[in-house]
Amino acid sequence: MTQTLTQSIQVQVTPGGALSGTCRVPGDKSISHRALILGALADGESVVRGLLDAGDTRATRRVMQALGVTIEPDDSGALVIQGRGLAGLHPPKAPLDCGHAGTAIRLLAGVLTGQSFASVLDGSAQLRRRPMRRVVDPLRQMGAQIADTDGRAPLRITGALLRGIAYRMPVASAQVKSALLLAGLRASGPTAVIEPGPARDHTERMLRAMGADVEIADACCVTLIPPERLRPLDLRVPGDFSSAAFVLVAALLAGSGEVTIEGVGVNPTRTGLLDILASMGADIRLTNERDVAGEPVADLVACRAALRGTLIEGDRVVRTIDEFPALMIAALQAEGVTEVRGAAELRVKETDRIAVMAAELRKLGAAIDERPDGFVIAGPQRLTGAVVDGHDDHRVAMALALAGLLADGPTTITDARCIEDSFPGFVETLHALGARIEEVAGE
Ligand code: S3P
Repeated sequence: MTQTLTQSIQVQVTPGGALSGTCRVPGDKSISHRALILGALADGESVVRGLLDAGDTRATRRVMQALGVTIEPDDSGALVIQGRGLAGLHPPKAPLDCGHAGTAIRLLAGVLTGQSFASVLDGSAQLRRRPMRRVVDPLRQMGAQIADTDGRAPLRITGALLRGIAYRMPVASAQVKSALLLAGLRASGPTAVIEPGPARDHTERMLRAMGADVEIADACCVTLIPPERLRPLDLRVPGDFSSAAFVLVAALLAGSGEVTIEGVGVNPTRTGLLDILASMGADIRLTNERDVAGEPVADLVACRAALRGTLIEGDRVVRTIDEFPALMIAALQAEGVTEVRGAAELRVKETDRIAVMAAELRKLGAAIDERPDGFVIAGPQRLTGAVVDGHDDHRVAMALALAGLLADGPTTITDARCIEDSFPGFVETLHALGARIEEVAGE
């Protein structure tokens, strides 16, 4: 059935499907946002293949177009971005709508503070609930003129002359680090960011590939010397590890043979889940390892495994930050206790992912001990199919679908259109591997 844009979507899952086979996942969301933004700031034409075409990245593309950037596919399907240079964006005619995309609004705050015009960054009701002081405060230290709305969006920006600073981030956040580096492109003097943990480093890698001088000392201090110009990109975006994570966990819990996911980005700042699953007893192989435009890429091969509980804390948390909803499902099936500490950031994602996941999994009969900065799950637990709510949070909806694969009886995930925000084709991909899963129009 043809869906209208506003029609709600439900995902229905029936247990018993056994997964095997080979698949790919869509392009990396973090790298796609950065390619759209940095491509727009380059001198000349960037060509990007495999860019994620999903709700979040479409929002960034629309914002860049509203800033005067031409972005069109060529005959081969690659996206061509006509870069306008570091100072060439146009003043927007209306507030810039970042949709649900936290990465878009925070990175763009960094870009727009250093331009010579005023702009307003805004987004969905969900995005308006998310904290923005983490970027606004350090940007103000650089000289930015930004008015927030009680610490949240909308952000009203007046272009200003910026100066580089050295900033020690209280929380490891790639969005904050990237916002400061992007502002630093237009600042006088170097911008240094000291991180408490290894937040994803795609911005640094891409800036280097574009010719910028980015130094990294002791793995935790990033310094950008403002460049005169950025070279355009010629990039193939790898598959998103955070999307592959859902397929991996499904293969570990419901596999009947090998599942191979081809062409996945395996940047070590993203792959904490691989280390965690290995310590839980999974055997996930990386094959065909290669480097694609400065990012490590591999095929991932997994099969069903008996998992045991583990303790997750320290640097692994930031390297796994988007994978905890999926990991919760693995923990429910593992023998023994899985405990996560130091992950309070989960409470300020698209939803409070600790509270929302615990509440929805309880509807399936699960017992989850919520902590302010994590959770404790004693497994294995038996799940019973039920109707659960995706809360308009893509990773919550997909994790609940995985739970449905393992429950007794059918499970329906309502409010699941949001899966399109990061992983269009999620249902089709699992279905093609053998899962009994389908998408239906909601009421
Ligand atoms: C992202 C950084 C992370 C992550 C988000 C994408 C990025 O957020 O959770 O999904 O692309 O920079 P934080 O910077 O808030 O940790």
